[in-house]
Amino acid sequence: MTRQARLPQILITCAFAASALVLSRPAALGAEAGNRIVGIESCATSGCHGGGAGKNQVQIHRKDQHANATLAMVQAPWSTQLTQNLGITTPYTNARCTVCHTPFRTVAQDKFVPDLNAAKAGDGVSCESCHGPAEYWLRSHTRPDYTHAMRVSIGMREMKDLYNRANACVGCHQNIDPDIVANGHVPLTFELDDFDTRETAHWKDKGAWLGPKRWLTGQAVALRELSWSLANQHANPGASRGVKVMQDRWTAVSWVLRKTEAGRSLPAGTDYVASQAASDRIARAAANQDWSKESTMKLMRTLVGTRQEFGRGNAETSPASAQRGFLLAASLRRLYLALRNDGGMAQNTNIEKSLDALFEFTKDETNFDGEGYGRMLEQIDIELAKG
Ligand code: HEC
Ligand code: HEC
Ligand code: HEC
Repeated sequence: MTRQARLPQILITCAFAASALVLSRPAALGAEAGNRIVGIESCATSGCHGGGAGKNQVQIHRKDQHANATLAMVQAPWSTQLTQNLGITTPYTNARCTVCHTPFRTVAQDKFVPDLNAAKAGDGVSCESCHGPAEYWLRSHTRPDYTHAMRVSIGMREMKDLYNRANACVGCHQNIDPDIVANGHVPLTFELDDFDTRETAHWKDKGAWLGPKRWLTGQAVALRELSWSLANQHANPGASRGVKVMQDRWTAVSWVLRKTEAGRSLPAGTDYVASQAASDRIARAAANQDWSKESTMKLMRTLVGTRQEFGRGNAETSPASAQRGFLLAASLRRLYLALRNDGGMAQNTNIEKSLDALFEFTKDETNFDGEGYGRMLEQIDIELAKG
């Protein structure tokens, strides 16, 4: 299978050329405080989240891919092959799939309020998959005198804090059993800033320079999850290719994090247990670290300045370096967008073309041209140096 077909779909569908735009430990349900699930219809009345502007989260959600995540399991060209290879008759009722794609189907009947069941509660990834089961806060959370802190204290999942939010998303978006990937599932790559930006039709964060903050928090959480998973990999026949994909990704994420100031505290080598703890500390700090034009530009220059590490002299033609190139390209794009959105940087089509080209270089993972990739980084550096 070519690299192209296996790239994380989310992160490649937004090339600049097409339009300017903008990952097992599935966690997912946050069954906080013994709350039971009330179902999407309880959120959807017109006076609540099924109303007009500002109250239309349900309508927005229905257009979101999360709402379609159940059906999506059979809608990719590789779906049938994947389930056949794994010996799964139907993904709709198999917990190996539903845990992320339609998590209500994996919970016991007594986790629903009376008269409700998984089918009625809402398919796909629903409101309560992210916000937590709403039984005890459904009524009170609409009261104007209720603060966010009070809602959280009775079981609504706190996601305004970016560390908490990253934890909520990463449960489904980074770690997946290696044998599922080895049999054809698209590998998962967690990148909070891009994911978050795509969901802003439904929520809007306040403040400036959130891009780099989300990017760094997300990368650190991704590394923590990969470290956990690799530290706990048991011999799993048929999974070796999937484990290799995960190791390459771990190498890429730790490499890019080490280029940041916060990442200097990561332990050397591949001690997954130590790295899990260190990346969690980095993620917590990153969720509260403020960014500026200067610090964003400085990081972007540092990342672009890694071009020597991609030269042929370094034998950088392996799938692992293609992974690294891919993650670097995705990171540079987030930083560029932050400089555009928050730093008043004028649109620079040369940078945008070069960023698109970086992604192109990573598409053929068996024949990665590190030298050409490095030259493209140099082009970006020249543009940035112009100021
Ligand atoms: C750890 C969570 C997780 C598990 C377990 C999981 N998936 Fe996925 N799956 C995802 C995510 C996240 C995406 C979206 C990835 C992207 O776009 O980069 C996805 C995408 C897909 C897609 C592509 C959908 C599309 O819109 O193109 C299919 C098909 C799919 N999964 C099927 C399955 C099947 C079948 C299983 C069970 C064998 C399964 N998945 C298990 C998280 C998971
Ligand atoms: C993929 C996870 C996810 C799903 C699914 C989801 N939300 Fe959210 N929602 C969030 C996050 C993250 C925020 C931002 C943090 C916050 O405000 O708590 C948010 C914010 C909100 C807000 C506050 C908006 C604002 O502008 O302050 C409301 C209201 C809301 N969601 C309702 C819903 C409803 C109703 C559904 C189902 C129709 C839903 N959400 C589904 C993750 C999700
Ligand atoms: C219960 C598991 C689960 C959780 C929790 C979850 N997701 Fe997802 N997400 C999925 C699956 C599965 C897909 C793929 C759905 C599909 O292809 O239809 C997906 C798809 C997406 C997409 C692609 C949608 C698009 O329109 O391109 C984005 C972006 C995304 N998720 C962001 C987030 C963010 C941000 C959070 C946390 C606030 C989050 N997700 C939490 C399971 C989850």
